[in-house]
Amino acid sequence: MKTQTSSLELSHFPVMLSEIIKISNPAKGGFFIDCTFGGGSYSKALLKFSKTEVISFDRDSAVIPIGKKLEQKFKKRFKFYNLKFSQINTVLAKEADAIIFDLGMSSIQLNNLQRGFSFKSKDKLDMSMGLTDISAEEVINKFSETELKLIIKIFGEEKEASKIARNIVESRKIEKITRVNELVKIIEKSKKKIFTKKINPSTKTFQALRIFVNKEISELLNGIINATKILKPGGKILIISFHSIEDKIVKYFFSNFSKNKSRPSRYLPDTKIDKSFLFEKYNKKIIKPSQKEIDINKSSRSAKLRFAIRSKNQFNFPSELFQKFAKYINLEAIHD
Ligand SMILES: C[S@@+](CC[C@H](N)C(=O)[O-])C[C@H]1O[C@@H](n2cnc3c(N)ncnc32)[C@H](O)[C@@H]1O
Repeated sequence: MKTQTSSLELSHFPVMLSEIIKISNPAKGGFFIDCTFGGGSYSKALLKFSKTEVISFDRDSAVIPIGKKLEQKFKKRFKFYNLKFSQINTVLAKEADAIIFDLGMSSIQLNNLQRGFSFKSKDKLDMSMGLTDISAEEVINKFSETELKLIIKIFGEEKEASKIARNIVESRKIEKITRVNELVKIIEKSKKKIFTKKINPSTKTFQALRIFVNKEISELLNGIINATKILKPGGKILIISFHSIEDKIVKYFFSNFSKNKSRPSRYLPDTKIDKSFLFEKYNKKIIKPSQKEIDINKSSRSAKLRFAIRSKNQFNFPSELFQKFAKYINLEAIHD
């Protein structure tokens, strides 16, 4: 059946698609989970292999029509869920051959100025990717100066967080801040030497608000743990991250719960080796987009792909991961 490609689908460039397909290895068939459906590029590429079965998740209701259309085309082999990927283990009891995460927002979300993710927007301060309890407008207008400073400093890694938070509070005393361009003006006024830097002065504050509104760190931690639970022995978990907090978490999880970490010495007798590692020997090498891909799609330049292979060991909850990143989890829960 031939189906038309919608403008939503066309507005999205998949990142490292060939690398994702090569590592997932769908040629022999199997069960694949695309945790971040977006424009559906990975799911569609996996479905091109006739023996595959694919399910997808996305929290954004805007992509439901793309998911439904693909369900129509591949009735027996594809299912879309408008759910957060932290809920991955709630929909089925089947073990997966590969589980893929392409983190962050899609260009579909960024390019829709009404969603408030873009600095170019003059629309309301929303920044929700879907299924959230709070908007950026509520954060900006209701949170204390100290809370705003912490969010901008920790999630945005923004050195001038104090000044930005102070100016937000000063400004909202005069009038409620409701539009993206109003916030952009406050940030620009707060930052030093903004015009000498390559990166937009609002980048870090916007990243911070987006992470907070969407509880991205709790989602990532719960998502990767629940994915590991339902991965087949020998199955692969692949994660593309775009900022340093995400990559730090992924790297820590893969390296600290893998065989190379758990085995203290290769001279130890086999009986003494820790059998609780979740992943086989982990290759720390990061995979990055080729220069050719970056030339076509500039926003792919900060993408980092890491993957790990599930061991045969029984699943043990990696609670150490939550302890290690408690600073982020507690900050996301500041108003819960
Ligand atoms: C970078 S895009 C993925 C693009 C997709 N790989 C493609 O090539 O078309 C990320 C998508 O993941 C979704 N997303 C982000 N966090 C999520 C979460 N916790 N649960 C479910 N979906 C999420 C976003 O709504 C967005 O559509």
